[in-house]
Amino acid sequence: MAYYRQVGEVPRQRHTQLRDAAGALLREELMGEEGFSSDSSLLYHRGVPSAITAAETWELPDQGLAPNHPLLPRHLRLHELQTGTDAVTDRRLLLGNADVRIGYVRTGGPESATGFYRNATGDECVYVESGSGTVETVFGVLAYRTGDYVVIPRATTHRWVPAEASRLYAIEANGHIAPPKRYLSRYGQLLEHAPYCERDLHGPTEVHLAAPTESTTGVDVLVKHRVGGRVVGTRYTYATHPFDVVGWDGCLYPYTLNIADFMPITGKVHQPPPVHQVFEGRNFVVCNFVPRKVDYHELAVPVPYYHSNVDSDEVMLYVAGDYEARKGSGIGLGSISLHPGGHAHGPQPEAIEASLGAEAFDETAVMVDTFAPLELGEGGLAVEDPDYAWTWARGGQ
Ligand SMILES: [Fe+2]
Repeated sequence: MAYYRQVGEVPRQRHTQLRDAAGALLREELMGEEGFSSDSSLLYHRGVPSAITAAETWELPDQGLAPNHPLLPRHLRLHELQTGTDAVTDRRLLLGNADVRIGYVRTGGPESATGFYRNATGDECVYVESGSGTVETVFGVLAYRTGDYVVIPRATTHRWVPAEASRLYAIEANGHIAPPKRYLSRYGQLLEHAPYCERDLHGPTEVHLAAPTESTTGVDVLVKHRVGGRVVGTRYTYATHPFDVVGWDGCLYPYTLNIADFMPITGKVHQPPPVHQVFEGRNFVVCNFVPRKVDYHELAVPVPYYHSNVDSDEVMLYVAGDYEARKGSGIGLGSISLHPGGHAHGPQPEAIEASLGAEAFDETAVMVDTFAPLELGEGGLAVEDPDYAWTWARGGQ
């Protein structure tokens, strides 16, 4: 995030004294990326942000990954996946590699609010397939709703508080997630050709302090981190409540972007997926396909050509509408397709003819393209459709 934001109370100049009404000195914390060389924010705490009193192992759910071998295109039926209701601890792993892991959970209502959590392995981008609620963070509260990408910077302490059952598709990076560089001016402003702009990004507007009814001592925070090549967890106990920030400013903070605010770029002939890009991470990108007018050449073929993405695996989550290119494949809402590098994929054969003359597509899908092969988590394997790989040869029957 390159956009400066100030919320709550901060001293007039950085690294100078700030006292509360009782005269107590607040503790300044710089939270910054890339070793003081990238975006950062300064937060002012009532307590000591380093004051832990205990640390023990937090056993994560199964993080194992099985190779996609023999190499197959895959179809995962997410809505058949049973999960617990905690947005953090009950995520089931669908797909992953060393750069990114994708998990899924269906929460309950307000009773399923999570404990405090932060991901020290990288930024999280949680796509809200459905549902609403809030994410409370050390920077303040984000409201979330269906279609939001909730982007939470690495090591941001937060908790999910669903207002209703929410289907959450969690993209966890081993690094940072940001708008593509080509969308940005050299000073970081989103350019005119970008499909969204700063007005579409919604960050915290006020600080969020612990409620007086909450315990302010002995508060647990779950930390996801890495040991060697593995993702593991630690449960810290803090001397003071993590929501003790009276103010902050800077360019690093969580925010939301709703998929409905993404302005699709269309053309006379088929436009390639990079025009649909939303974010980039290290060795992966996030794109989305939204309802749009389609190609207006008189002989246009609106569905994609077959494509062999020799350097990437492609993961599509189908979230709304009717996805033209997958007709006849068994894929429907709540499906994921994995089209790996090394396998040319494209429309089911009958979908091509059926698309001719179409003026608009009513489809919403979220795509993650990874530049290293993905492997399958236990959640993905649990809901795989074993017939998908053969649907092109059967003419979709
Ligand atoms: Fe594709």
